[in-house]
Amino acid sequence: MSSATMEATKPQEGARTKPRILSGIQPSGIPTLGNYLGAVRHWVRQQYEAESFHPIVNLHAMTLPYDPKDLHQRTYDLAASLLACGIDPEVAVLFVQSQIPEHTELTWILSTQTMFGELSRMTQFKEKSGGEQPERVGTGIFFYPVLMTADILIYDADLVPVGDDQRQHVELARDVAHRFNSVFGETFVVPEADIKEEGARIMGLDDPTMKMSKSAASEYNYISMNDDDDTIRRKVRRAVTDSGSEVKAAPDKPALTNLLTIYSQITDRTIAKIEQEYEGKRYGDFKNGLADALVEAIAPIRARIEEFQADRAELDRILALGRDRSREITVPKLERVREVTGLVT
Ligand code: TYM
Repeated sequence: MSSATMEATKPQEGARTKPRILSGIQPSGIPTLGNYLGAVRHWVRQQYEAESFHPIVNLHAMTLPYDPKDLHQRTYDLAASLLACGIDPEVAVLFVQSQIPEHTELTWILSTQTMFGELSRMTQFKEKSGGEQPERVGTGIFFYPVLMTADILIYDADLVPVGDDQRQHVELARDVAHRFNSVFGETFVVPEADIKEEGARIMGLDDPTMKMSKSAASEYNYISMNDDDDTIRRKVRRAVTDSGSEVKAAPDKPALTNLLTIYSQITDRTIAKIEQEYEGKRYGDFKNGLADALVEAIAPIRARIEEFQADRAELDRILALGRDRSREITVPKLERVREVTGLVT
């Protein structure tokens, strides 16, 4: 158990034998390599040592303009992808956020303990609403971190394994939990962000100053976990590199540092070892090696995504199981929140 877990305030429901983990992901398409290396891969590794909850956060995905048919399909595509990456649905709890109404009810209650100023300072809010007149920014994008706080607190999660871009949101969840507990008495575990040192910020292949993201303007920014072999090779070949010719990670070599991080994470080898292997070799050799490693890791995941996508009934069975296991926690927890906040039940 990490020291982070030890520090977390203990829940009301009796001693835990395993830490409880919660981490969600938006159904905005098949996950990228950034999602995989920053989050999903860690969920897969942690699922047997923890009690894990993984919502597909379709309510979060409604905060920017979207197509309802796409959202519906992408929810299943994401379930297929998470299973293909190794989430074991008999062990971890995989579910769809909107199927658990307690998340949204708790969002309202927590909004009373979340300050307008706190939400205004969220970097993602500023980025996503950037440039728009306030009259044209949906309040969902502003409120988004309150829903995320509810996602976390309703499970009394000890740990929230996320990429670096979610750090500020988890900090907010901690502040709100503290505040709620001091106003209404010990009710929620105060969660800790669990952000790994390496892979927490995978950058765009076409621009190492921006994080890898599906919503990037160019498909050469990211690799999807279902890209075919040729696409992976083409994207790696097109990835920008830094001036010079040495395969070395350094602060003034952001592109190489990013590619080396990806190579190291996907092969579970240290960056130093990979640098050694390519000493005296060219960028082209390095890129070929990286593309081979990515193809080897992604090809079997792609095949499993297709298998799960072809079996909607099995996906529905798994998501229904996840929904029922989630509600075993959320229904009594919300009952307690209603009690301590003075709501007539
Ligand atoms: P989302 O869907 O944008 O991303 C899912 C996870 O992938 C990580 N990630 C990355 N990690 C490293 N490098 C990248 N380029 C990269 N891109 C994405 C994210 O940090 C995240 O861990 N608001 C959240 C979803 C959410 C959530 C929650 C997370 C909703 N409720 C409760 C944790 C707990 C989001 O939009 O993640």
